[in-house]
Amino acid sequence: SLKLAIVGGGSTYTPELVDGFARLRDTLPIGELVLVDPAADRLELIGGLARRIFAKQGHGATVTTTSDVGAGVAGADAVLLQLRVGGQAARDQDETWPLECGCVGQETTGAGGLAKALRTVPVVLDIAEKVRRANPDAWIVDFTNPVGIVTRALQNAGHRAVGLCNVAIGFQRRFAGHLGVAPELIRLDHVGLNHLTWERGVTLLDAPGATTGREVLPELLGGFGKEIAADLLLPQRVIERLGVVPSYYLRYFYQHDAVVAELKAKGSRAAEVAAIERQLLELYADPALDTKPELLGKRGGAFYSEAAVQLIAALLGTGGGTSVQVVNARNAGVLPFLPDDAVIEVPAAVDAAGVRPLPQRPVEPLYAGLIAAVTAYEHLALDAALHGGRDRVFDALLAHPLVGQIELADQLTDRLLAHNREHLAWA
Ligand code: G6P
Ligand code: MN
Repeated sequence: SLKLAIVGGGSTYTPELVDGFARLRDTLPIGELVLVDPAADRLELIGGLARRIFAKQGHGATVTTTSDVGAGVAGADAVLLQLRVGGQAARDQDETWPLECGCVGQETTGAGGLAKALRTVPVVLDIAEKVRRANPDAWIVDFTNPVGIVTRALQNAGHRAVGLCNVAIGFQRRFAGHLGVAPELIRLDHVGLNHLTWERGVTLLDAPGATTGREVLPELLGGFGKEIAADLLLPQRVIERLGVVPSYYLRYFYQHDAVVAELKAKGSRAAEVAAIERQLLELYADPALDTKPELLGKRGGAFYSEAAVQLIAALLGTGGGTSVQVVNARNAGVLPFLPDDAVIEVPAAVDAAGVRPLPQRPVEPLYAGLIAAVTAYEHLALDAALHGGRDRVFDALLAHPLVGQIELADQLTDRLLAHNREHLAWA
């Protein structure tokens, strides 16, 4: 049986993963789960609930906890990274100061996302190094945002890493629901970068895992265009005319100024999440609780555990052969207009031999332009995260399509540095 470690295991999200591990034990038989986190009180609380969830479902896995990364990952077959440097307090800042400059305040998109990348990349690389030292064969599955930049950092440092997001599995489940079919029958033609993707096609497979099926995106948009557009808060006419479904993160680009006005008029998502987390921690402390509480559904992480189980099972060879899954992986020529070391989010063949992004048909200029610009930003963001310095931060912001102007990049750079000094060794 398998040993898994979760770095950031003290997160209020962990019961979502544990619930998935318990339900999907036939796909991924886990014998030992190690929760790794610097916060000892959180570890005890989440560890206790994890044990109760497994026990309730008659699952024999042991749950151990530690604050020592090296000890926690020793002997692990896979290590999941789901940490948040600076917690919701740092996120609250990322969502707030860009608004002062008329720019979107978001934890992964725009200037806030850059701040998060700068705080996060060095910490994740340090942890990955400890993983490699303790266990060079372990797979690293990164949920830590910004997933594209963090995965690129891990790839460039030669780690055995793959990045994962729930946007694609969310669309898969939603489209399957519209069509009244099992999610396994839906394959997405999903292309772009993490949090910058478009569904260009939707195949209804003849059978789960089949290579044949038929294209159903036009019929989905014909029958459910209104619902799909309403979910994304994007105009139905544009989605229908383009015949593609953008992820909801595209709204930060396509309706940037309107989103800024909305965000200015309400409290931050970080504050909302912090309130949910306080309630969750109270629930978790109840020794009678032995299931994932419904309140966790108010977080954005729907289907994360299913996506994680599918991916890890395929990588560790317990999932039965090769499967196709949307992941974040090295471009290596798949999108020929991007550098090889870019990390792209596309369907990939996944099995014990690793992750191989599938060939993509040419990307239309409307999408390729934004993908290329944001890839260049991600390159510069990673450079700033690795080497520090005001100029590198400025350059990344100047390259970002939502910034792009010298005065704006200057103002945002000053704010980013002022709000993040305690987290940036070089600032
Ligand atoms: C989705 C995104 C994640 C993000 C989350 C935010 O799941 O794919 O990358 O972390 O939403 O959810 P939250 O509840 O923290 O706002
Ligand atoms: Mn995501």
